[in-house]
Amino acid sequence: MDIKLSSILTKRIMVCGITALVLFALRRLPASSTSNKFSLHEDGVMHVLVTGGAGYIGSHAALRLLKDSHRVTIVDNLSRGNIGAVRILQQLYPEPGRLQFIYADLGDATSVDKIFSENAIDAVMHFAAVAYVGESTAEPLRYYHNITLNTLLILEAMAAHDIKTLIYSSTCATYGEPDKMPITEATPQVPINPYGKAKKMAEDIILDFSKTSNMAVMILRYFNVIGSDPEGRLGEAPRPELREQGRISGACFDAARGIIPGLKIRGTDYNTDDGTCVRDYIDVTDLIDAHVKALAHAKPGKVGIYNVGTGKGSSVKEFVEACKKATGVDIKVEYLSRRPGDYAEVYSDPSKINEELNWTAKYTKLEKSLAVAWRWQKAHGKGYGNSFGRL
Ligand SMILES: NC(=O)c1ccc[n+]([C@@H]2O[C@H](COP(=O)([O-])OP(=O)(O)OC[C@H]3O[C@@H](n4cnc5c(N)ncnc54)[C@H](O)[C@@H]3O)[C@@H](O)[C@H]2O)c1
Repeated sequence: MDIKLSSILTKRIMVCGITALVLFALRRLPASSTSNKFSLHEDGVMHVLVTGGAGYIGSHAALRLLKDSHRVTIVDNLSRGNIGAVRILQQLYPEPGRLQFIYADLGDATSVDKIFSENAIDAVMHFAAVAYVGESTAEPLRYYHNITLNTLLILEAMAAHDIKTLIYSSTCATYGEPDKMPITEATPQVPINPYGKAKKMAEDIILDFSKTSNMAVMILRYFNVIGSDPEGRLGEAPRPELREQGRISGACFDAARGIIPGLKIRGTDYNTDDGTCVRDYIDVTDLIDAHVKALAHAKPGKVGIYNVGTGKGSSVKEFVEACKKATGVDIKVEYLSRRPGDYAEVYSDPSKINEELNWTAKYTKLEKSLAVAWRWQKAHGKGYGNSFGRL
């Protein structure tokens, strides 16, 4: 009886062992052949690390880079982005060696260094950041940590691994509230909120480092980004708890869908034509095109700094009218007092990027950009399906 039992047990253990070995081998095979592609440089293939690639702008950038036949590694801690966006990209580009996703926090120096030691990265597009002006005034330390410190960590790892190119996402918030419009790249940077200050500090770190290095650096200062993929594959889907902090397009769509009762316009006594803030709205498709052009023009040992905007300001009231037309909904509007940290009027002079990178904004009709974004919003009532941080 004992002998029988022990032989049955031995057989079971052997079967389990063999099954485990087979499963292990099956899992390893595709994984290692895929990871080889990411860990080796390949002639004619540019491998771009897209930080924050699960977020709004980063996911659109990854889509364009993949379309342009680049190899893409997305790194994101999913604190704000959507794994659903990454899944869409994986479905569109399932071939080995096209796209991989790394779940990591860029504030963790060990993880950041591991990414660069295990992957043959040619260029970094650093989008990852917390990015709400209002939130930054309430939680300044979070902003300096996430934006300034994390950029320093990435730069250190890039230097240690001799990565050649950095495209950095900066913002017009680094200019603060200049006396003179439009804003050129020579306009003094005097940021007035922690978000703008944290980005300016990150820029300064990059600029000081670049004086000592042969890295090719492009700093792009975006104005207000709107719109989404014209083919409707990706959209902007901030998580519900960020709605209050949110950007105006998200609020317009939420009001049009009846998720919120109406729009709250904060500040009607600014020194502008209709009293509401004036902003330069840049379509995400144009913005990503600027990144692609920046990548193509990046030169070793040189830094390029460019405003990315349309050159034309629109007031919040004009924006709301465009949103009403794009959605076909007569959105209710409530007028409130100013929000801390906001500035009256901001629009760009994009002539430098026009001339040097041969880039011009093409999607300059607010109503059209909003109509594209609204199509995605309507078709995706729950964004990417409530998948936010879940892997
Ligand atoms: N949206 C705009 O209008 C605008 C304007 C100017 C500049 N920018 C800049 O563009 C970039 C992208 O903005 P967005 O609108 O796509 O924001 P987003 O919140 O949609 O995306 C940011 C992504 O970064 C990720 N992330 C944040 N902290 C991280 C960390 N520590 N480690 C790993 N991942 C992290 C988030 O999970 C998210 O997926 C930001 O740098 C922002 O400052 C945006």
